[in-house]
Amino acid sequence: MGRSGPGRIIALVVSLGITLAVSGLLYYWFREAAFLGNDYQSTFEPASENAEKVHSVYVLVFWLAGAVFVGVMALTLAFSLMFREQEGAEAVQTHGNSRLEILWTFIPVVIVVAMAVPTFDAIVQIEGDAPDNALEVTVVGHQWWFEFRYGDEGIVTATDLHIPVDRAVHLSLLSGNYQADGSFIDNDVIHSFWVPRLMGKKDIMPGHENHLWFTPTETGTFLGQCAEFCGLSHAKMRFRVIVQTQEDYDAWVAQQQTNPADPTDEQLLAGQQAFSSAGCIGCHTINGVSQGLVGPNLTYVGERSTLAGGWLDNTPAQMEAWIRKPSSVKPGSHMPDGLVDNLSQDQVDALVAYLQSLR
Ligand code: CUA
Repeated sequence: MGRSGPGRIIALVVSLGITLAVSGLLYYWFREAAFLGNDYQSTFEPASENAEKVHSVYVLVFWLAGAVFVGVMALTLAFSLMFREQEGAEAVQTHGNSRLEILWTFIPVVIVVAMAVPTFDAIVQIEGDAPDNALEVTVVGHQWWFEFRYGDEGIVTATDLHIPVDRAVHLSLLSGNYQADGSFIDNDVIHSFWVPRLMGKKDIMPGHENHLWFTPTETGTFLGQCAEFCGLSHAKMRFRVIVQTQEDYDAWVAQQQTNPADPTDEQLLAGQQAFSSAGCIGCHTINGVSQGLVGPNLTYVGERSTLAGGWLDNTPAQMEAWIRKPSSVKPGSHMPDGLVDNLSQDQVDALVAYLQSLR
């Protein structure tokens, strides 16, 4: 048999101490890793009611699993010290112990029930119908960018999803392309919509409409990205959710519902002509100017925070690099290379200035 009384207690205390120290370091490290920089995408800091619900289940499971982990590891370590091979000691074989067997059936049952009840409660809320007054937005996944269509408001935009704070938003998720007659073709691939701080991920399937809803509880910009491998530039399929006060959101809607003013400046007029002559009008809509449906709606592209599906900052230099050779920014991009090769540098500058002026 093992060692005597005091030795056992010391072994137990030392084992528990080592396990707690290692567990604590791991916990601290994971938390730090989740908050690197300002651009973090972390489920640890929920900013919507539903994300908070998911997070509370996560925290509960974390502490229950953590207690099991610490207990099991400490006992394993302690027993291996207490009952290690010693001179003259002999192993004892036992068989059957009703009291122990009932105990180690009962404890896991209690733990599983403690996790299951709040989990099902959260699932019922999250997967249930969105509140009646929810803002309705259709999200369309494309290789490799997100389109946002506000049916009631008549707004179509891309990459930046504007929503008001403290109001539920109900997203209908589609993959494919809307046609000029309003019909929809399922001609894209599977994507996944994920904004870690606002909601768990949900797949965007061709031919199957999925739904997601949440109520943001704080204003700010929340990073999202496609979370399902969808081809060459999957990693460059990002977006932002911009949660605004009701006033700011209303002002944004009112602006989006107007057409951009016709340019009067000579350079901007030349830019608008280049938009047409380079063929951009075939794929892109600018309200009052063009009606293309293949690429992102560019009506107010100048005010977006990013370009190319969230991959580039929206600066004139980055915009020029993007339209000069899309494949060098996003391999596989459906926007062809060489579109502006026949334009002079002045014309390209004008085109970029025109697009940047759309704000
Ligand atoms: Cu879309 Cu990955």
